[in-house]
Amino acid sequence: MAAGDQRKIITVADPAALAKTAADRVLARISSNNGRIAICLTGGSSPKKLYQLLATETYRSKIPWDRVHWFIGDERFVPTTDSRNNMSMARAAFLDQCAPAANIHPIPTDTANPDEAARRYEHELQSFYGADEFSSARPLFDVVLMGVGPDGHTASLFPGYPEVEEAGRWVVGVPQAHVEPFVPRVTLTLPALASCREMLFEVAGAEKRTILTQVLGDENLPANRARSAGETVWLIDKAALPENFRER
Ligand code: 6PG
Repeated sequence: MAAGDQRKIITVADPAALAKTAADRVLARISSNNGRIAICLTGGSSPKKLYQLLATETYRSKIPWDRVHWFIGDERFVPTTDSRNNMSMARAAFLDQCAPAANIHPIPTDTANPDEAARRYEHELQSFYGADEFSSARPLFDVVLMGVGPDGHTASLFPGYPEVEEAGRWVVGVPQAHVEPFVPRVTLTLPALASCREMLFEVAGAEKRTILTQVLGDENLPANRARSAGETVWLIDKAALPENFRER
């Protein structure tokens, strides 16, 4: 399936059901791969419940932690001690309790600048993948988790920003964010995020309804252009689902 193909939309009752559905899908992807597994996490508030669920016995006991590697799709360029650091949130929610330290792959934020961090992370991803070009037969990630911001951004790919058009680099620095927190970012690009078996968006809450109307209306927004080379799934809770979409 090529980028631009249909996405699958799954609606659920509430944030708890959203987290459980997401956790079940992540587990299914993990279970279908007998080799080394790579999951790309996301920041923001939406995935926190999912992360906490993965640490509960039901999921924890079914995940082969030594074979799963955890990456992050974007990072705020702040120290790991800063509460806005995406990977630190994921570490606190589940990784530090469950995953071997060597399997956690944060975007560095102690470099001179975001561009330098992007170069280092790109190198890390390419070493892990074993090539510097993607092969469609061999996706980089099993699952890429995503969220959507109020302006239609995803990862740290903001509408109208040049990083959205990046076709060669896997990771780039973003000097200025378009929404809060207004700190520089480092983000994977659309081609790097697309190299996955499944891209899984989690969207919950009435405050997402306006932007979802635009995304589901196929407006030219980064969250709409982010598509997996495999399956693209949007998990949406009732409160976030636009009225007109409900009627269909
Ligand atoms: C970030 C994120 C970003 C996020 C969306 C949704 O670093 O901010 O990775 O892309 O996923 O902004 O954020 P919420 O889940 O907080 O709504």
